[in-house]
Amino acid sequence: MKKTFRAALQDFQASLSSVYRGSGNIVVVNNEKGGVGKTTSAVHVACAAVDAGLKVLCIDVDPQGNFTRTMNGADLSQAYVTDNNFISAADLFYDKLNKDKTYPIRENLHLVAATDEMYTVDESGDKSRVIAAYQNVKRIMTDGAFDLCIIDTPPTVGNRQLAALLLADVLVMPLEVDAFSIKGLEKQLTRLTTSRRAGGLPMPKVSLMPSRVDLRYKLTKDQLASLSEVKVARVTPPIKHSGAISHAISAGKATWDVPVSSRKQVTEMLISAYTSALFLY
Ligand SMILES: Nc1ncnc2c1ncn2[C@@H]1O[C@H](COP(=O)(O)OP(=O)(O)OP(=O)(O)O)[C@@H](O)[C@H]1O
Ligand SMILES: [Mg+2]
Repeated sequence: MKKTFRAALQDFQASLSSVYRGSGNIVVVNNEKGGVGKTTSAVHVACAAVDAGLKVLCIDVDPQGNFTRTMNGADLSQAYVTDNNFISAADLFYDKLNKDKTYPIRENLHLVAATDEMYTVDESGDKSRVIAAYQNVKRIMTDGAFDLCIIDTPPTVGNRQLAALLLADVLVMPLEVDAFSIKGLEKQLTRLTTSRRAGGLPMPKVSLMPSRVDLRYKLTKDQLASLSEVKVARVTPPIKHSGAISHAISAGKATWDVPVSSRKQVTEMLISAYTSALFLY
């Protein structure tokens, strides 16, 4: 008998728990292209991991603050963060991190929020900020005994993106399937390899996750097939364009927690993509 989507979700969470519990691993969601589903993926993975019983740290280095807003249910203002001495994402990029508190959204789910100050991080090209962010995040992960960290990134090149790329144990790259995106991807992967080598770091596990895909076109299917030629990355099953996903994200929830008619099919599709993207097998 075919499993219900609830059973499939439980299996997915059990795998997340067995692979990542106690790992202190950092999953980064990045693509320099905008609107490809980075934040949507970060939110779904974070929700599943917390429901799996993992202690999860979400870090939002995108000043748009969509990950912050969706996970927290509201923006966290600079004043609130500063007054309560919580670490903000901008704080990570300065040498002296005189704070040790991450913002607890609820038990096992903490946030390092993007505030407006995040816009200033990339104004100076000072690379020492990247090293500071690298060291600060590593320290917070150990001090807070987090099982897993998920970093959502902006669709731009700079210190915020570079720090995340250096921190990644697993790099998930949602992408749209078209000729321009695939060309851009090759350049990004070359830069990833160069930066990791320069930092003396081994390559992270990399997954390419075709997102918002419309499989009605032969060209799309051909372009999807051509992705498998990318040597340094695994290609996940595609995520199709689905109104249920954007509906859920606008409600600040994972798709499996929103009662829409296509929930079962869409949840199964997401689980299959994320299972591959997170190297759960
Ligand atoms: N598979 C999908 N089907 C339909 N809509 C989707 C899908 N994935 C994401 N969306 C919607 O597309 C929009 C962009 O997604 P998202 O914010 O996750 O992209 P992003 O890569 O984080 O964008 P940015 O680069 O601006 O940070 C959102 O409105 C989201 O709800
Ligand atoms: Mg985003």
